[in-house]
Amino acid sequence: MKRNVLIAASILDSDFAHLEDEVKAVEKLGADYIHYDIMDGHFVNNISFGSPVVKKISPIHSLVNDVHLMISEPEKYFDKFIEAGADIITFHYEAVKEEEINSLIDYLHSKGVKAGLSIKPATPAEKIFKYLDKLDLLLVMSVEPGFGGQSFMESALAKISAIRKYIDENAAKCVIEVDGGINEKTARDCALAGVDVLVVGSFLYKNDKAKAMASLKEAINV
Ligand code: DX5
Ligand code: ZN
Repeated sequence: MKRNVLIAASILDSDFAHLEDEVKAVEKLGADYIHYDIMDGHFVNNISFGSPVVKKISPIHSLVNDVHLMISEPEKYFDKFIEAGADIITFHYEAVKEEEINSLIDYLHSKGVKAGLSIKPATPAEKIFKYLDKLDLLLVMSVEPGFGGQSFMESALAKISAIRKYIDENAAKCVIEVDGGINEKTARDCALAGVDVLVVGSFLYKNDKAKAMASLKEAINV
């Protein structure tokens, strides 16, 4: 079945000194989401940026504002990112108690934003099957969260396929997003495995953007 695979441009490795230009450039080239990698230096060993940046950037483009919270106690900051213009807020399975997940998803929905859940490479797909009928987005990390420019972990492909199978068999509406090490080759592999959204950072921002976007669009035309 042909699926329309989307591109979420991660600004983590963009030129922060010219962030508006960097966002508008990928919008013009046909990106579908702007992906904000929020890091707190506690859940991951890096600090990136917070809701003030999302607040500044969200109104200057027309793409989906896709916020990826790589932070501890994510629920403490939901309202800040909602006010900043998030359309999707994704928190990490490993950052919360399992018994809290359903109520966190309900809370995000009650505020009119889409709810995403992300799993690190070491977390088995089976851990999150039970949330797929409630989630809007499931983010499979194909690198250890914390830094752009890492190499893609092939183990993500089997996870994507297993989640794709579960979603299709249960007619769930959840989309599958993958994040980390995406280039024209891994984009194709992930599209064939059943992904819906590709997060792309350094491949777009450390290369000629137009050439990189064209090679991604070609690769996902499966
Ligand atoms: C990891 C980040 C990165 C980023 C994309 O914590 O989430 O995966 O979005 O980085 P690239 O595309 O450079 O691997
Ligand atoms: Zn991310």
